[in-house]
Amino acid sequence: MKSSRVAAVGTALVGLGAADAGTPAVYIGPGVPSGTPIAANYTGPLRPQAHYSPPTAFMNDPNGCFLDASGTWHVYYQYNPTDVVAGNQHWGHATSKDLYHWDNQPIALFPPDADTNVFSGSAVIDPENTSGFFPSQDNGVVAIYTLNTDTKQTQNIAYSYDDGYTFIPYENNPVIDSESNQFRDPKVIKYEDTWVMVVAFSQEFVIGFYTSKDLKTWEFASNFSHHGLLGTQYECPNLQKMPIKDTDETKYVLTISINPGAPLGGSIMEYFPGDFNGTHFTPVDNAARIADFAKDNYAGQFFYGVPETEPAVSIAWASNWQYTQNVPTADEGWRSVMSLPRINYLTNITRLGWDMVSLPYDVSPVLGDELTASNADAASLVNKSLAIDFSSAASNALYFNASVSGLPPVKNISASAWFNFTFLSPVSGESLSGGYQFGGDNPFFVSRERTRGFDNPFFTDKASISQLLDPAGTWSIAGFIDRSIFEVFLDGGIFSGTVTFFPTAPLSIFSAATGGLPEGAQVQVKVWEVKSAWAEKEDENGTVRGNVTANAWPWV
Ligand SMILES: *[C@@H]1O[C@H](CO)[C@@H](O)[C@H](O)[C@H]1NC(C)=O
Ligand SMILES: *[C@@H]1O[C@H](CO)[C@@H](O)[C@H](O)[C@H]1NC(C)=O
Ligand SMILES: *[C@@H]1O[C@H](CO)[C@@H](O)[C@H](O)[C@H]1NC(C)=O
Ligand SMILES: *[C@@H]1O[C@H](CO)[C@@H](O)[C@H](O)[C@H]1NC(C)=O
Ligand SMILES: *[C@@H]1O[C@H](CO)[C@@H](O)[C@H](O)[C@H]1NC(C)=O
Ligand SMILES: *[C@@H]1O[C@H](CO)[C@@H](O)[C@H](O)[C@H]1NC(C)=O
Ligand SMILES: *[C@@H]1O[C@H](CO)[C@@H](O)[C@H](O)[C@H]1NC(C)=O
Ligand SMILES: *[C@@H]1O[C@H](CO)[C@@H](O)[C@H](O)[C@H]1NC(C)=O
Ligand SMILES: *[C@@H]1O[C@H](CO)[C@@H](O)[C@H](O)[C@H]1NC(C)=O
Ligand SMILES: *[C@@H]1O[C@H](CO)[C@@H](O)[C@H](O)[C@H]1NC(C)=O
Ligand SMILES: *[C@@H]1O[C@H](CO)[C@@H](O)[C@H](O)[C@H]1NC(C)=O
Repeated sequence: MKSSRVAAVGTALVGLGAADAGTPAVYIGPGVPSGTPIAANYTGPLRPQAHYSPPTAFMNDPNGCFLDASGTWHVYYQYNPTDVVAGNQHWGHATSKDLYHWDNQPIALFPPDADTNVFSGSAVIDPENTSGFFPSQDNGVVAIYTLNTDTKQTQNIAYSYDDGYTFIPYENNPVIDSESNQFRDPKVIKYEDTWVMVVAFSQEFVIGFYTSKDLKTWEFASNFSHHGLLGTQYECPNLQKMPIKDTDETKYVLTISINPGAPLGGSIMEYFPGDFNGTHFTPVDNAARIADFAKDNYAGQFFYGVPETEPAVSIAWASNWQYTQNVPTADEGWRSVMSLPRINYLTNITRLGWDMVSLPYDVSPVLGDELTASNADAASLVNKSLAIDFSSAASNALYFNASVSGLPPVKNISASAWFNFTFLSPVSGESLSGGYQFGGDNPFFVSRERTRGFDNPFFTDKASISQLLDPAGTWSIAGFIDRSIFEVFLDGGIFSGTVTFFPTAPLSIFSAATGGLPEGAQVQVKVWEVKSAWAEKEDENGTVRGNVTANAWPWV
C-alpha cells in the first residue's frame, strides 16, 4: 500500500496564468486509480444494460451533471473506488451522447488530503469567463462541491480547461467556509447575469440561497426553511427553471432530498413548484410533493446547459440508504445504479394543481425489436391476457407501454376492472408485478415481494400511489425493466416509481392482462426488446475499458 501526495503546481499550470503559490495539493489515496478509467465487467446477471452503473465499487449521488457545447452529457457521481460501501468519496465521471450509451472516464475530483472527502455538488460552463479562470476559451467548466472533514463541511470550486475531464482545485478554496459539519451539496445555476447556489444546512432543515458574479465570492441571499417533509436531514437541493406544458411560460422547481425518515422509510426526493426572483424562492402553495412514489429514487440532479425552453433533463441515484450498502450486487463487484435519464416539465393536473412530469429521455437509442408487432391480443387487450417470452433478448431488458381509452366516469367502473402486468422467471418462479385498479380510488401498485435474492427488513415489498382518473377517460403506463431495476411512468409521467429488485434467476416472461373493463374500453399494449448499451463496448473478454484515449491530469 502506498499513497502519494501530488502537488498541483505543475509545469502545465505555469504559463496558463494560474497562481503558482499556495495551490492546494491533490491526494491520491492507496488503491485509488487515476489518469485512466477503471476497466469494468458489465456482464453480471444483476447488471443493468441500459442504465449507468459504476465500473466497480460503490456509487451514490449524481454530481456535476451538465451538457457541453458539443452535445456530450457529463455525469459525475459520488464514488468510493476502493470498496462496495460508502466512504472515501471522490467524483467518478462518465459521458454519453444519448444518455444511454456511456463511456467511463477517469476519476475527476480527488480530495486535498487523506482526511477529507469530496462530497456532492454541481458543475457549470463559464463561456463568459466570469470566473477569470479561462484566459482563452469559451468552454471552461467549473465544479462546485463540498469538502467534508470530521469537523466541518465547506463549499469549494475547481476548474477545467478540457471540457470537464480534468479539474484543478481553486487555490483560494473554500469559497464558502463554515463552522458546521452539516452544510453541503451546492447546486449552481445562472439567473440573468448572476450565479445562484442552493445548498443544504442539512440538520437545520434550511436551504440557503447564495449569489455570485464570479463563482468565487458568494453572498448570502435568503433561507428557505422547514418546508415539506423534513425526515431527519435535508440534502442535495436543486433549483431548476422548467417549461409549463403547452405554454410559453416557465416556472421554477426547488427539489430537496430527505434522508432518513422518508414516508416509506429511508431516502426520497420532494419538490416545490414556485417562483424565483434572483434571491428568494416562493412556492406556489404549502404542499410537499414527492418526486417518485417508490423507494429507490434519491438525490436527483438537473443537467446544467439544457436550453430553458426545452424540458429539463435529470438523473437520480436509484437506491435507498436503508439497504444500499447491503444489496447483493456486491457479489458482482459493484453497488448502485442511476435511474433512467428523465425529462421534466410542469403541468397542472386540475384538482391536484402543479405536478412535475417525469418521463424517460428519448429511449429510441436502446429500443430493439417490437415484440408485439403482429400480436392481435396486444392491439386489443380487453378482458384478456398476453404473455411474451423475452429470454432470447441478451440484455434481459424490456420496455413496454400501454394506453387505455374509452373509460366512463370512475363511479361507473367496477372495482374488478384492472390492468395488471408481471415479469416472471420460469426457472425460479420469482416475479415482479404491478397493477392499476380503474374503479375505486384508482390505486396503482408495484410489488417486488416475489423476488428472493435479497432479504432485509427495510427492503419493503410494495409501493403504491392513488391517481385521479383523467376526465377524458384515458389512462397510460410505460415500464422499463433492466435486470435489477424497474421504472414505471403513469399517465404520461404524472407519477413515476423506481424499484430495484434482486432475483436469483433472470425474469424473462412478460405478461399483461385486463379484466372487468367497462363496455367501450380500449387497450393497446406495445413491448420492445431493449438493446444492451454496454455489450457493444465490450472486448473479446467482456471487459469495458472506457475512454482509453483519456489523458492523465495535465498537472502531474
Ligand atoms: C464478470 O462478472 C460475472 C458476474 O460476477 C462473472 O460471472 C464473470 O466471470 C466475470 N467475467 C470476467 C471476465 O471476470
Ligand atoms: C478571463 O479572465 C482573466 C482574469 O480576469 C483574464 O486575465 C483573461 O484575459 C480573461 N479572458 C478572456 C478571454 O476574457
Ligand atoms: C440561514 O440559515 C442558517 C442555517 O440555519 C443560519 O445560520 C443563518 O443565520 C440563517 N440566515 C438568516 C438570515 O436567517
Ligand atoms: C424577491 O422577493 C423578496 C421576497 O419577496 C423581496 O424581498 C425582494 O425584494 C424581491 N427581489 C426582487 C428583485 O424583486
Ligand atoms: C389548475 O387547473 C384547474 C382547472 O382548470 C384550475 O382550477 C386551477 O386553478 C389550476 N391550478 C393552478 C395551480 O394553476
Ligand atoms: C409507447 O412508446 C413508443 C416508443 O417510445 C412511443 O412512440 C409511443 O408514443 C408510446 N405510447 C404511449 C401510449 O406511451
Ligand atoms: C353511469 O352510471 C349512471 C347510473 O349510475 C348512468 O346513468 C350513466 O349513464 C352512466 N354513464 C356512463 C358514461 O356509462
Ligand atoms: C389484477 O390484480 C389484482 C390484485 O392482485 C387482482 O385482484 C385482479 O384479479 C387481477 N386482475 C386481472 C385481470 O388479472
Ligand atoms: C369485461 O368483463 C366484464 C365482466 O368481468 C363484463 O362486464 C364487461 O362487459 C367486459 N367488457 C367488455 C368490453 O367486453
Ligand atoms: C483476453 O484474455 C486473454 C486471455 O487472458 C488475453 O490473452 C487477451 O489479450 C485478452 N484480450 C484483450 C482484448 O484484453
Ligand atoms: C477521452 O478523454 C479526453 C480527455 O482526456 C477527451 O478529450 C475525449 O473527448 C474523451 N473521449 C471520449 C470518447 O470520451
